[in-house]
Order: sequence, then structure tokens, then C-alpha cells
Amino acid sequence: MHSTDTQSRTVLGLESSCDDTAAAVVRHVPGEPPEILSSHVFGQTDLHAEFGGVVPEIAARAHAEKLDYMVEAALTDAGLNLGQMDAIAVTAGPGLIGGVLAGVMCAKGLAAGSGRPLIGVNHLAGHALTPRLTDDLEFPYLMLLVSGGHCQFLIARDVDQFTRLGGTIDDAPGEAFDKVAKLLGLPQPGGPNVERAATSGDAKRFALPRPLLDRPDCDMSFSGLKTAVLRERDKLVAAQGGLHVKDQSDLSAEFQAAVRDVLVEKTRRALDAYLDLSPVAPTVAVAGGVAANAAIRSGLSALCEERDVSFTAPPLSLCTDNAAMIAWAGLERLRLGMVDDMSLVARPRWPLDTNANPMLGSGRKGAKA
Ligand code: KG4
Ligand code: ZN
Repeated sequence: MHSTDTQSRTVLGLESSCDDTAAAVVRHVPGEPPEILSSHVFGQTDLHAEFGGVVPEIAARAHAEKLDYMVEAALTDAGLNLGQMDAIAVTAGPGLIGGVLAGVMCAKGLAAGSGRPLIGVNHLAGHALTPRLTDDLEFPYLMLLVSGGHCQFLIARDVDQFTRLGGTIDDAPGEAFDKVAKLLGLPQPGGPNVERAATSGDAKRFALPRPLLDRPDCDMSFSGLKTAVLRERDKLVAAQGGLHVKDQSDLSAEFQAAVRDVLVEKTRRALDAYLDLSPVAPTVAVAGGVAANAAIRSGLSALCEERDVSFTAPPLSLCTDNAAMIAWAGLERLRLGMVDDMSLVARPRWPLDTNANPMLGSGRKGAKA
């Protein structure tokens, strides 16, 4: 990082782009590892459970109600007040617009009231910069961002500079985990529940596809995989009138193995593409909710060992949506003087790499990350 920089910075971060309302305080004293002084997340899973997916209007209202409490809890927990913040950072997109707006409005109020600078953060940059918060990773590195609404390979070059090497052409893996959970009668959020079911499952009982492995690039597809699970489920239901716990486990195990295989193989290709562009072997970093999956983490870690490159994955609480990553990304921007003003707008779509072709599909739940 910037060795001449001696200024210590403390930033309040707000996150409300999907179904988690979060606030956190992060401090960085140059020469020391960054410190998460507090991090509060109010998950809305229960509010949306009966609808089978995130309902944007319900999400927006809940964010508007809960943000103040989260901010208060984050400041109290950090033992600091608003006036002691060096900036207020907020997710300004991409995401469900009502929620993003609730966050941006709240942050504007806090910034106006305290006279502290306002910083709009791209939610994807929050995930992508997390390895610098947790592992002090230097640029550049190769990032696999894999969550409920996004799946892409990025070269992280600087705080505001990302090159997209490839990504999903349809669903994101987290979305596929959620849909598969639904198909199998497992509760939401799908990822952790499919992972739990998979631990006792026999992946070999079914043979699901590994989509797009015949293509040399690092684009991916997960929608056909979900349909293949649907077909297997329907066969079982037709034959035996329903699903047994063993069927849920075996299908979960093979589905998870298929996602892992695709992510690992495509990471191998992204690594090749990266090395074509730069002779220095990168660290491979993974972030986003799906990075919480142990099978996927260990698959990626084994690949990196085989290829002799370093691998880093954030702790589970910093994989899924949180505000510490937003506070950190804000802190990184603040250090470079990249602050916003009251003209900051909430953006439903906001690609990290503005030069790359637009991604297809943003997921039924809206643009999650
Ligand atoms: O990053 P995140 O909290 O929200 C955004 O999408 O931005 O990711 C949530 C997604 C959900 O689809 C959830 O099912 C998935 O991450 N997820 C997992 C696991 N934990 C969360 N997927 C697989 N295995 C997990 N252990
Ligand atoms: Zn996210």
C-alpha cells in the first residue's frame, strides 16, 4: 500500500443493495492491518421466505426501517460517534434500486448532518477489494467473484480498475443453489442448506452436466445445470411419489460437485488468460456468498496449489453481504481522494469493468452481487 501515507482513517459503511441491511466501522492505521471495529448485518431472509424470493418493495421498506438501527449499533459497538468518522461510505449500486436508494438517502443524511465526506461504493468492488481488507493483498490479483447475482473473473488492478475476463452467461451460481434448494424442498438461503444436505450425499448416484467446459474461454453457464436437477427430481417424484432425504442429499452433492468442477476448471482457464497478459503469477482470490462453500473453496485451493499460485478466501462472514467491505472500499477511495457529493445517485446497474461487453442476465432477484 502507500508507504508514505501516515494518516489513520475510520470509515462508516452502509450496505442495503439486496436482502441484508448492514452497517460497519473500519479503521486503518498505515503500517498496521485494517481493523473491523464493528459489523452488523440484519438479514431479511424471514421477511421474504413465504414468497420464494426477494420481494423488492418489502426489501426496500425493511432497509429504510432498519438502516438507522444498524448505524447506531455499529457506532455504539465501535465506541465512536459520527463526528469521529472520516467518511460515510454507502453501496450506490448495483442492486435492487429501492434498497440502494434507501442506503444512499440515509448516507446523505448522515454526511449532511455530520459534515463528513460521502463516498459511493460499487457493491461488486466491495466484494472484490475484500482480500485487501483481510489479507493485505497487493494489486494486481485475479478475483473470482461468485455470489447470488454475479459470477465473474476480474483482474483487480487498482481500487477503481478492474478487467473482466469472463463470467456467467445466464444464472449466477448462488442463484442456482437457491433454485436447486427450492426444487429439492430445502429451505432458503439455498447455498448453506444444499451444502449441508450434500455432506451426507453420494454425488456419483447422478450424472449432471458440467456446462461450457467444451469452450476454451472462462465464460460459464449454470441455468442448464439447474434444469438437469429439475429433470432428475421429476423422474424420482414420478417413480416414487416424492423425494427421500437420501435423494435430496445425493442430488445436492452432485449439484455442488458440478458447480465446483465448473468453477475450478474455469479458474484454471482464467489463470491462463491472466498469465497471457502478465508474466507475474497472481494471487487468486475468491469472494461473494458462494465463496462460503467449503467444497468450492477447497477445490480452488487445490487448483492453486497445483499451479503454484497463492490462494486467498475471506472468512465466511466477509464472503456474504456485509458493510465492512463497503467501509473498506470507501476507505480505499478516501485514501485516493475519490469522494462524492450530494449529487451521488443510486444505480441499479453498474458494471465494474465498463469496457467489457454487458453481462447477460442479472438474476431473477435483481442484480445481486
Ligand atoms: O454475496 P451474497 O451474500 O449476496 C449477493 O448475492 O450479493 O451471496 C448470497 C448467495 C446466495 O445465493 C446464497 O445461496 C449463496 O450466496 N451462498 C452459498 C453458501 N452460502 C451462501 N452458496 C453455496 N454454498 C454456501 N455455503
Ligand atoms: Zn454481494
